[in-house]
Amino acid sequence: MSDEEMYLHYHGLLLPKETHSLESLKFVQEFTFEDEDVVTVTYPKSGTAWMQEILPLLLNDGDLTPIQTIPNWDRAPWLEEKRLAVVVDQLKSPRALVTHFPYRLMPHSFHASKAKVIYVMRNPMDVMVSSYYFHQMAAFLQDPGTFEEFMDKFLEGRVLFGKWTDHVKGWRHTDLGDRIMYITYEEMVQDLPAALRRMSDFLGRKLSDEVIQKIAEHCSFKTMKTNNMSNFSLVPKIYMDSDKSPFLRKGVAGDWKNHFSSEQQAKFTSVIRKDLEKESFSLPWS
Ligand code: PPS
Repeated sequence: MSDEEMYLHYHGLLLPKETHSLESLKFVQEFTFEDEDVVTVTYPKSGTAWMQEILPLLLNDGDLTPIQTIPNWDRAPWLEEKRLAVVVDQLKSPRALVTHFPYRLMPHSFHASKAKVIYVMRNPMDVMVSSYYFHQMAAFLQDPGTFEEFMDKFLEGRVLFGKWTDHVKGWRHTDLGDRIMYITYEEMVQDLPAALRRMSDFLGRKLSDEVIQKIAEHCSFKTMKTNNMSNFSLVPKIYMDSDKSPFLRKGVAGDWKNHFSSEQQAKFTSVIRKDLEKESFSLPWS
């Protein structure tokens, strides 16, 4: 299939038609945010599914029912995907949502509400590696080509949801004040209980150390891999072929070292650093 057949072009972004439609995108613009809503924002492959596990637990005092009975795409649906319209009426307040949308495309009601945002950033080299494998296993995405070809596409933003640097920059320059918190995938890998504590404080949830520990155990890569509600094993193989690469693939920080040559790393980091030269936030790699 050609790019045109597989992807929608929406305000400069490429979106897979399998999961997005003009109706779903219109639905977002008309969606009514509630003050209690919590939205995780990620550039694709930065820890979305992980947050779909974490958020419902943080918001329900560690009650395991949602993560054991509801597939992740229904318990914390994507704002921009077709599925939201199907499940929206079943979501209980406080609602957990996720989105890959850039800040500029968030709907009016989001700005008018007090909904909170957790923005998760991941080392873009690891994002690209994860995405490269995802494009091999997901039948609704174009074959990524060679690693080098995919890297050029990634750096130019000819990939899902556009340029990584545009996404992170857009979400750094908001008027959300204390409605937004920033965390990195790497921080979560390094010390998940501490990351959970930071998130629960931000959300105003008073959770005991025992509950935080329980959530950390249930959100570990190992446990999520065995949870059929979270490991995408419910998705038919013709859409996602885990024999080619599982969705929960490695779950580590720094896998880029196994994929980038030193020349590729130099090229990649120089493009990213140039795009971010006026930014003051620190990047999740040294
Ligand atoms: S998507 O398609 O955009 O929703 O993908 P996303 O969920 O954002 O990112 C997938 C990567 O997140 C990793 N992941 C985890 N890492 C560590 N611990 C836990 N619990 C966890 N859950 C998901 C997942 O393995 C993908 O990264 P890679 O590097 O491919 O393993």
